[in-house]
Amino acid sequence: MIRKARMIVDKEYKIDEVDDKLFGSFIEHLGRAVYTGIYQPDHPMADEEGFRKDVIELVKELKVPIVRYPGGNFVSNYFWEDGVGPKESRNPRLDLAWTTIEPNLFGLNEFMSWAKKAGTEVMMAVNLGTRGVADACNLLEYCNIDANSYYSNMRKAHGYEKPYGIKYWCLGNEMDGPWQVGAKTAKEYGRLAEETAKAMKMIDPSIKLVSCGSSFKDMPTFPEWEAITLEHTYDYVDYISLHQYYGNRGNDTADYLAMSVDMEQFIETVIAASDYVKAKKRSRKKLMLSFDEWNVWYHSNDADNQIKERKPWSVAPPLLEDIYNFEDALLVGLMLITLLKHADRVKMACLAQLVNVIAPIMTDEKGGAWRQTIFYPFLHASSYGRGIALHPVIQSTKHDTSNHEDVSDVEVVAVYNPEYEEVTIFAVNRNIEHDVNFTSELRGFKNYEVLEYIVMENDDMKAVNTLSSQNVKPESKTEYSFDDGIFTTDMKKCSWNVIRLGLKK
Ligand code: AHR
Repeated sequence: MIRKARMIVDKEYKIDEVDDKLFGSFIEHLGRAVYTGIYQPDHPMADEEGFRKDVIELVKELKVPIVRYPGGNFVSNYFWEDGVGPKESRNPRLDLAWTTIEPNLFGLNEFMSWAKKAGTEVMMAVNLGTRGVADACNLLEYCNIDANSYYSNMRKAHGYEKPYGIKYWCLGNEMDGPWQVGAKTAKEYGRLAEETAKAMKMIDPSIKLVSCGSSFKDMPTFPEWEAITLEHTYDYVDYISLHQYYGNRGNDTADYLAMSVDMEQFIETVIAASDYVKAKKRSRKKLMLSFDEWNVWYHSNDADNQIKERKPWSVAPPLLEDIYNFEDALLVGLMLITLLKHADRVKMACLAQLVNVIAPIMTDEKGGAWRQTIFYPFLHASSYGRGIALHPVIQSTKHDTSNHEDVSDVEVVAVYNPEYEEVTIFAVNRNIEHDVNFTSELRGFKNYEVLEYIVMENDDMKAVNTLSSQNVKPESKTEYSFDDGIFTTDMKKCSWNVIRLGLKK
């Protein structure tokens, strides 16, 4: 049987504008994300503040618009005051989330300065695990208020005259998870988040708040958690969060590449739960989704358990250092396509994380920084996926996998950028056995030409990159035709494809 996928890209079939914040990321005080990741004062590439310039360059290359900070599980027992003020008087503390020591040599003000240099905005999370309304208010006052008041004056005394005006705030992290320090029932969290949100908006009504959704789709409390917590928070928040990580634990690549279908169902269920609360409350507000943790995470699980057992309470051990392979890059590409396909409701997303910890960017403590395989699909989506997402009208041959039925061979989305008069098709052929004959008919794009056809293809699903070798990287492909607005190619099995078209110059 010939494998085929036929797509129509029509300028009028709009999903919605893609929010730039869809290409956000995440830095947690975890492993080597901060220490020897973004901050290493003794490194030859460190600037006057101790930030690694080689890392900043790679972050800039990814054009990350927003970075979530400081956690993650870490935030649920974080005392932000530990990380501000003169470094000589800061004290180390136990980090219960990761069984490490947080030296507190890098904190809020250092992160704000780093973010400025990296050209990115900050999404701040407050501790709703072991703390509550008052501490969230104090932190917000320290960050955003210019008044003659306790925490505003404290910031000024620390040398930061102007408030930061941080707009996006997470009301805790994964509060449904038993692993979370200070985990809550849905009712407990709903009430606490509601009161925290109310108070925070009294301090700064311009902020946008994210209510904690389920930690992942298979949580036993999903989606009741969403329905119950939103009954409390709906009127005060702007987003609900989603988190999801995947892994090829059974070494079943076909099934692994079908997992983005589960992500799609997750998004659709959260939309349904939010809209149920909207209807129940007779609200006119439509809640948006913040997919503020997503990625592949499994390679490092065993190593992490060993580190925890053998060397607890160390500073910046190499935790969650997944070394990504080619098939992981394909799944990350599929997850990006899934986010873009829901650009009307998913208005913020964070690839978790950014540096060293389940990250596209890795550093060598004694050497340089380098790009993992997953760096590239993210780079392409962030570079060419801004504009208006278009409905992927596609008919593709399908296949079954061990846990999924009728999985389309080709997963695809297109984004039209009116500013540059360009349209980009992102596609993955996830069939592990067959190439697929792919055609895409462009409608409403007169006088367009192919600017570039970028692919990532590899016969070795387990190929990885290292500091010294980039085995997995994109290439330009010339085997295609483009006649009368119809693009045709044989899309190689297991491939990431970025077809860039633009108005003839
Ligand atoms: O990103 C790693 C961890 O994954 C985060 O700390 C937590 O929120 C999630 O479980």
